[in-house]
Amino acid sequence: RIGLAADRIQMESYVVGGFVRDSILGRPCKDIDIVCIGSGIALAEEVAREFDLPDHSVSIFKNFGTAMLKVDDWDLEFVGARKESYQRDSRKPLVMEGTLEDDQNRRDFTINAMAVQLNQANWGKLLDPFNGIADLKSKIIRTPLEPGITFSDDPLRMMRAVRFASQLGFDIFPETFEALQKENERLEIISMERISEELNKIILCQKPSYGFLLLDACGLLARIFPEFVKLKGVDTEEGKGHKDNFYHTLQVLDNISQHTDDLWWRWAAILHDIAKPQTKRFVKGKGWTFHGHEEMGARQTPSIFKRLKLPLNEKMKLVQKLVRLHLRPIALSKEEITHSALRRLLFEAGDELEALMTLCRADITSKNGDKVKRYLR
Ligand code: CTP
Repeated sequence: RIGLAADRIQMESYVVGGFVRDSILGRPCKDIDIVCIGSGIALAEEVAREFDLPDHSVSIFKNFGTAMLKVDDWDLEFVGARKESYQRDSRKPLVMEGTLEDDQNRRDFTINAMAVQLNQANWGKLLDPFNGIADLKSKIIRTPLEPGITFSDDPLRMMRAVRFASQLGFDIFPETFEALQKENERLEIISMERISEELNKIILCQKPSYGFLLLDACGLLARIFPEFVKLKGVDTEEGKGHKDNFYHTLQVLDNISQHTDDLWWRWAAILHDIAKPQTKRFVKGKGWTFHGHEEMGARQTPSIFKRLKLPLNEKMKLVQKLVRLHLRPIALSKEEITHSALRRLLFEAGDELEALMTLCRADITSKNGDKVKRYLR
């Protein structure tokens, strides 16, 4: 029906980007980006008429020449095809009207640059100049143009490369990956909010360790979250080593991610050993100790959240508490927790135990829930 509306005003129109990619992969997607050769606003208004929606249902962003429209639970975004050219001395691109090919050229990855025509005469025709379909089949993230160009146009795309690889379980094409290694300092001009938004999407993947290993391998992790990289490595003294806390943390993160989709539980897993490098001591005859790292990690949590521009709210306090408790409340999701373990947890968690229980509510076995209630009483 979008195609019918476009035909009525004689405008070429295409669905592009994420919707095409996800439809081919069979992933659900409710955001539809539509590119037309002409005014996106005019097309959005005609599509509203096609669906018998009032004119005011179209949100218009005049400055950007874009329009949005909600049809049932679909979010449609309309924009005229454009060409961008970047000047050496300015971050702001010059945006001009362009052809569909111009529009596809300025996109981030081959799998995000496919378009499908909507006009009746060619309905369903795939326009795929960079062979994104082959990259979808071989599970590859690759930039359509020379990666240095695509990443310098928008350095956030470096985080997006890792995010899509993690979400889809794809590899990053070698030349694209090399550019991530070489150009990662470009990320400096991107706001931390936008970087953390991508980081959180990586953390919310089914196996977040994959994304972190990629971020580490290309040097992005050291740029955005150096405290985490410092967990790497094993010191040996008198023939005794300790575990590598970087890989251990990733393992804990993956384990916890199997139990819960809660972002903040996953952040607590990431931070649970964060102060180990500062507290590490070798004690003769005893081995490696990390005395008080939980307390120090909890104290460090707000500053890490602040720098990463994560919310400094109740969620942060719960993460902090979980770090201080060294994630022990996760034990509540185990089949049977012993009375002594529960008592210890209760005393350490104090007044916040109930709040912690809410955070892991979905996973608490009812047996443990009853026991906790009895203790609290
Ligand atoms: N895009 C881009 N460069 C960016 C952001 C977006 O080229 N930095 C293009 C891509 O073609 C992308 C489309 O704009 O497919 C829509 O962007 P967005 O909604 O952020 O991503 P999706 O691909 O739709 O995926 P998701 O919704 O999972 O973020």
